[in-house]
Amino acid sequence: MNVLEIKNLTKKFGDFIAVDNMSLTVAEGEIFGFLGANGAGKSTTINMIAGLLRSNDGTISILGKNNAKQSRFAKMNIGMVPQDIAIYEDMTAYENVKFFAGLYGLRGAELNERVVEALEFVGLQDKHKSYPKSFSGGMKRRLNIACAIAHRPKLIIMDEPTVGIDPQSRNYILTSVRKLNEMGCTIIYTSHYMEEVEEICSKIAIIDHGKIIAEGTKEQLKSIITNTKDVWIEVKTTEKVNLAAIQDINGVEAVSVDENFIKINSDTGVNNLNKILEHFMNSHIEIRSLQEKAPNLETVFLTLTGRNLRDQ
Ligand SMILES: Nc1ncnc2c1ncn2[C@@H]1O[C@H](COP(=O)(O)OP(=O)(O)OP(=O)(O)O)[C@@H](O)[C@H]1O
Ligand SMILES: [Mg+2]
Repeated sequence: MNVLEIKNLTKKFGDFIAVDNMSLTVAEGEIFGFLGANGAGKSTTINMIAGLLRSNDGTISILGKNNAKQSRFAKMNIGMVPQDIAIYEDMTAYENVKFFAGLYGLRGAELNERVVEALEFVGLQDKHKSYPKSFSGGMKRRLNIACAIAHRPKLIIMDEPTVGIDPQSRNYILTSVRKLNEMGCTIIYTSHYMEEVEEICSKIAIIDHGKIIAEGTKEQLKSIITNTKDVWIEVKTTEKVNLAAIQDINGVEAVSVDENFIKINSDTGVNNLNKILEHFMNSHIEIRSLQEKAPNLETVFLTLTGRNLRDQ
């Protein structure tokens, strides 16, 4: 079952095309990451999915039902945590969650139970009578998440939920994302922290200029760009290392020395580790450690878009 299906979605602001004929499918159970630089079109896409912004063209379906035709069904099944915190400062934490959950039609005892449940979920149960103005940035974020999940949506969309918050709240949020996922929620997660996306997302779409330019698991994304890997060999002393001899080994693309490390870039299609190690053995060079460095998502992103993820 696909929780979300986007087909040929386009959004223009005047002449500017912010989302350009985008198509995307998110299957049930995924934690789906949106990666893109500033202005790539992530929030615009997300806002259209959540029904906060109209598209110029294309369709969006939630759980097989067209959003435009069944907007109430879509709203009931989506929990949206917006990029800019949206809570009322003059209402307590409890009242905030109650207000948002009430918008989804929850009433009476059920409403109360869900509000308590959501506040517990984000660890704010002890703060239910407090006003957000006394909260840290991270606590406000967590309250914002509680507001989005109290109606138990199938799809939760989080637009940069960990920007500018303390590490403890960040860990709390990442743990909540995993827990929500284990409880059966599908999640769309936008972040410009590569490590976060690598850590929690089961699938990732790289968005650039309103288009998806690559999509898949992190392993699939990495394999798009790389046919070489790095092997780092740490030695007691580099004196006896013959770089030219290593360079001559079949498959070795480049070799360099960095302090006590011999860094070898090698073709992934050639199994030459034996040959490389032989060189060290034959020259009686003491090896202290050996590690293989896989490329990270940052490299994938940079290679595909030609830019860093953030310009700050
Ligand atoms: N209401 C608007 N009017 C005009 N242009 C807009 C509007 N909203 C967004 N844009 C433009 O559309 C593009 C995409 O913006 P969007 O907010 O979707 O990017 P984003 O990927 O979420 O970026 P960020 O990482 O900075 O949040 C940007 O160039 C932005 O300036
Ligand atoms: Mg955004």
